[in-house]
Amino acid sequence: MSNLADGRRNAELLEAQSLIWNHIFNFINSMSLKCAIQLGIPDAIRNHGKPITLSELIAALTRLHPAKANCIPRLMRILVHSGFFARAKISQNDEEEGFVLTNASQLLLNDHPLSVSPFLLAMLDPCLTRPWHYVSTWFLNDDPTPFATANERTIWEYAAHEPNFNNLFNEAMASDARLVMNVLINECKGVFEGLKSLVDVGGGTGTVAKAIAKEFPHLECIVFDLPHVAAGLQGTNNLKYVGGSMFEAIPPADAILLKWIMHDWSHENCVKILKRCKEAIKGREGGKLIIIDMVMETKQTEDHESNETELLFDMLMMVV
Ligand SMILES: C[S@@+](CC[C@H](N)C(=O)[O-])C[C@H]1O[C@@H](n2cnc3c(N)ncnc32)[C@H](O)[C@@H]1O
Repeated sequence: MSNLADGRRNAELLEAQSLIWNHIFNFINSMSLKCAIQLGIPDAIRNHGKPITLSELIAALTRLHPAKANCIPRLMRILVHSGFFARAKISQNDEEEGFVLTNASQLLLNDHPLSVSPFLLAMLDPCLTRPWHYVSTWFLNDDPTPFATANERTIWEYAAHEPNFNNLFNEAMASDARLVMNVLINECKGVFEGLKSLVDVGGGTGTVAKAIAKEFPHLECIVFDLPHVAAGLQGTNNLKYVGGSMFEAIPPADAILLKWIMHDWSHENCVKILKRCKEAIKGREGGKLIIIDMVMETKQTEDHESNETELLFDMLMMVV
């Protein structure tokens, strides 16, 4: 064989190995980001008010064990590579550089009104990462989900028994809802106009319904969720919480909202939920069902990151 053919074969071999290694270690991206949030790195950079040098960053992380300070540059290097932090000159006349936030890490600040950190911390909680070790086992047994194989309960039973996880999960949903509602109220206001009553089925702790109730003070809103979620939550003038199961009965209303509900269930269970929704709006003029959910695109768009996120999210729903 010629040297040229040998060279091509070697290049292909290395490219193949590189793809495999990249996939083997992909979880390190998620876990490095989780670590940075738990250490408070985005907030420390923001609080500094200008590009922060490595030694200033280490000094700002007051809980850091001194023996671990020399590992911070390694953590920062991968997060700069992934686009979560960037480097910038400290001043125009200075060659020295410091770390700054990017658009993505702005969204990870603790006090950002649309912070995604609660969502990240819940999704990377061990009870949600553990099931991934059991996916192949689940393919061979009759458990409903790998989550159930790993944690011996469905996710909703688990949340009902683990108050810490219940809070973490509800806060994660609320953080996503804040971001989505920001867009929804501006872009889709017409959907809610003219309604007198609305039930947000599986509405969690009520972030979505609160935003709607505030925007439409004459609309009576009910947040309907499992009893352990609704327990102890205080309503307002035009918003109340009701505990129950959407598989049994849903309080009657002009409109039913299902945000991030359908994607959790099998086709058969979705049909059951939709039948209960139909009963709840029966006989109401202009009764409607509003569904907000992620749609799997049949054709791939140019946006590789969004396409991949769709596929990852679909796997997450299968596993959880
Ligand atoms: C993915 S979360 C979505 C929460 C909220 N709609 C949002 O978008 O932020 C699914 C919600 O469905 C609720 N849920 C699960 N099973 C339910 C049932 N049988 N009846 C009512 N709610 C249920 C969960 O407690 C959880 O709050």
